[in-house]
Amino acid sequence: MSAPNKSYDPVEVTSLHPDEVARMRAEALAAIEAASSLDELKQTRLAHAGDRSPLALANREIGALPPHAKAEAGKRVGGARRDVSEALKRRQAELEDERDQRVLVEEAVDVTLPWDRVQRGARHPVTTTAERMTDVFVSMGFEIVEGPEVEAEWFNFDALNFPPAHPAREMQDTFFVESEESGLVLRTHTSPMQVRALLTRELPVYVVCAGKTFRTDELDATHSPVFHQMEGLVVDEGITMADLRGAIDAFVVGMFGEGLRTRFRPYFFPFTEPSGEVDMECFVCRGASAEPGGEPCRTCRSEGWIELGGCGMVNPRVLIACGVDPERYSGWAFGLGVERTLMFRHGVEDMHDMVEGDVRFTRAFGMEI
Ligand code: PHE
Repeated sequence: MSAPNKSYDPVEVTSLHPDEVARMRAEALAAIEAASSLDELKQTRLAHAGDRSPLALANREIGALPPHAKAEAGKRVGGARRDVSEALKRRQAELEDERDQRVLVEEAVDVTLPWDRVQRGARHPVTTTAERMTDVFVSMGFEIVEGPEVEAEWFNFDALNFPPAHPAREMQDTFFVESEESGLVLRTHTSPMQVRALLTRELPVYVVCAGKTFRTDELDATHSPVFHQMEGLVVDEGITMADLRGAIDAFVVGMFGEGLRTRFRPYFFPFTEPSGEVDMECFVCRGASAEPGGEPCRTCRSEGWIELGGCGMVNPRVLIACGVDPERYSGWAFGLGVERTLMFRHGVEDMHDMVEGDVRFTRAFGMEI
């Protein structure tokens, strides 16, 4: 073992030379001052105050110095390291402060912005249109009835005088529940409510029913497998087709305003006789687009008339099926399309808008239409 090197001259250990220590200190302080982010400062700390930093390495040299040289070198290096460590602490605090200020600005919440930025929904215009349609009749003293969407085939067809093999059943493109033998269908129209109302209510009957109906149509601009109808039914003594016309006219006034003509075209439904399809004069062009030289009209496709739905005098066979004496009572019924009414009334051109559930469409109608 060699004896301690008593003649060791600290001046010869380059890293402990006062100039060198001063240089390392100055370099460290400059780097700390130059660090412009907390990440950069972390790197600077490693480089100038870490275990392998020049000052830490110099510090290790002290141990090997002869005792008389240790104190002075220790003071020198220790002082430099303390300065570096204090500078680090100060810069760390500065940078944290800067970061906090920046976060406050960048993530500030402007409490003066309007509060209702979250879009509120609105009731669907099909619902509000159906309500408005039934309201016209409620104001005339009708009552509102509701019935099942999954309906017995008997109510949907048989009691309404659709013979078993009648093509009208296919005409309605029915959704059967489970199998055709189940006897259950998704109602293809609201007319089964005629039967339900007549079977459960005292005569006379004045009712309307609005609700979902289903047919196996593909969704396109004018069709949907799920759509809505409003049914109207009156059965009383002495009811004639004139009452039906009056009711339809009142409906048109209630929904579209005064002064629009209506017309019936002969048609066939098994449950009404005679039957008709009912049109109203186009409320936009008032028929002018169909005149020679008239401006084209998008609402009625220049036909001058808009089809509203089907109607007729309740077939005595339906009255009999419901236990009503056709010698004493007569009645009328109609079925009007809710989507059609909405489309015409508000210029909605595509059925997709009604079924896609986009709140931007619904909101445009607000709470009142
Ligand atoms: N139920 C018929 C349909 O959906 C419309 C209608 C109702 C016709 C009442 C006459 C009487 O096409």
